[in-house]
Amino acid sequence: MPGDVSIGIHDLSLATTQYVLTHETLAAHNGTGVAKYHRGIGQRAMSVPAADEDIVTMAADAAAPVVARHGADRIRTVVLATETSVDQSKAAGIYVHSLLGLSSAARVVELKQACYSGTAALQFAMGLVHRDPSEQVLVIASDVSRYELDSPGEATQGAAAVAMLVGADPALLRLEDRSGMFTADIMDFWRPNYRTTALVDGRESISAYLQAVEGAWKDYTGRGGRKLDEFGAFCYHQPFTRMAHKAHRHLLQYDGHAVGEEEITRVIGHTTAYNMELGNSYTASMYVGLASLLDHADDLTGQAVGFLSYGSGSVAEFFAGTVVPGYRARLRSGAHREAIGRREEIGYARYRELHERSFPADGGDHPAPKETTGPHRLVGLSGHKRIYATR
Ligand code: CAA
Repeated sequence: MPGDVSIGIHDLSLATTQYVLTHETLAAHNGTGVAKYHRGIGQRAMSVPAADEDIVTMAADAAAPVVARHGADRIRTVVLATETSVDQSKAAGIYVHSLLGLSSAARVVELKQACYSGTAALQFAMGLVHRDPSEQVLVIASDVSRYELDSPGEATQGAAAVAMLVGADPALLRLEDRSGMFTADIMDFWRPNYRTTALVDGRESISAYLQAVEGAWKDYTGRGGRKLDEFGAFCYHQPFTRMAHKAHRHLLQYDGHAVGEEEITRVIGHTTAYNMELGNSYTASMYVGLASLLDHADDLTGQAVGFLSYGSGSVAEFFAGTVVPGYRARLRSGAHREAIGRREEIGYARYRELHERSFPADGGDHPAPKETTGPHRLVGLSGHKRIYATR
């Protein structure tokens, strides 16, 4: 029984922040030639959360349209993946569960392993649906990436959430059970509990990523996975969009193929359009890439898509999915473009103010200024408790 069930992504919805900072603005502040950002790392703008936005409000904004379209009756599990959690104990998904009015007869959990944990959430969801194909799992990846001001990582910041409904007989993408895995204990990027910004060894992180691509692919093919030329497109984790180019070039070389920029652009080009405007959204980034691919490519029906998920520290996984007939009628391309296009551009001083902003830790009443025009907002902190509201 469960072995024959087709399982995968039934719906996918993207949300981001109220504000955007362009790389022109950042370059004008720090004196960098903007070509380094536009061409060197492949980024044009970064999403910046308003003072009343965080991973919970973005997650709820992404998931609300999914629940509105399909109802919540079959959702028995909510898994929220993030590396920028708002609490050391309580799962952020519980706030989302409450904002969306989901049934109390559900389990909610948070997963963490740098940018990889959205994929762990997807694998967890597939296992649950295999066990009972009548159930659906709401998987949400939501992150705000933040580096120190004036550090090399600053230009790769960003924020977004992706919500995916995982279930049997999916309308968008059928996921395959076979995976290739790779884990290595490495300090390429990390964030100790006492820090609000990540620590990173930039060059080390790029080579750790490429090493993980090799490791995950080797394990995948060693277990009888598809051949490289069977894939019509590849979604990579995108800390910055040029990294996807580097990763695919590396994979082609490693697997003994000729490396041509045209071929790389053909198979990953459509996956980078949204990330270029949003910046790194850590756990969500590869799934933002999937949204971008589905929204921009010509008909992908029946094509295999390869996924390379990387999380510093490090864990990587390669897996595959096949695009389902009729998927185009179920896309949310208009809403995605609107979410990206409606962001309000801010200047450098305002960005800096938001970057440095934090709530006092004294347990008092601290309302957040009303800034976001999105459907959910962080009302403030009171008695050390976060308070959220639906507009
Ligand atoms: N025109 C065109 N290209 C230019 C240019 C110009 N005027 N000036 C520079 N460039 C190119 C450089 O040649 C370089 O390209 P290559 O990598 O292909 O050689 C690119 O722009 C970047 O230049 P630098 O290496 O000099 O840039 P940098 O020292 O400022 O740092 C970075 C770049 C290491 C990526 C830094 O932004 C960083 O630390 N980012 C955060 C860490 C990160 O994203 N790591 C990725 C792997 S880890 C991961 O994936 C997990 C995660 O999400 C963090």
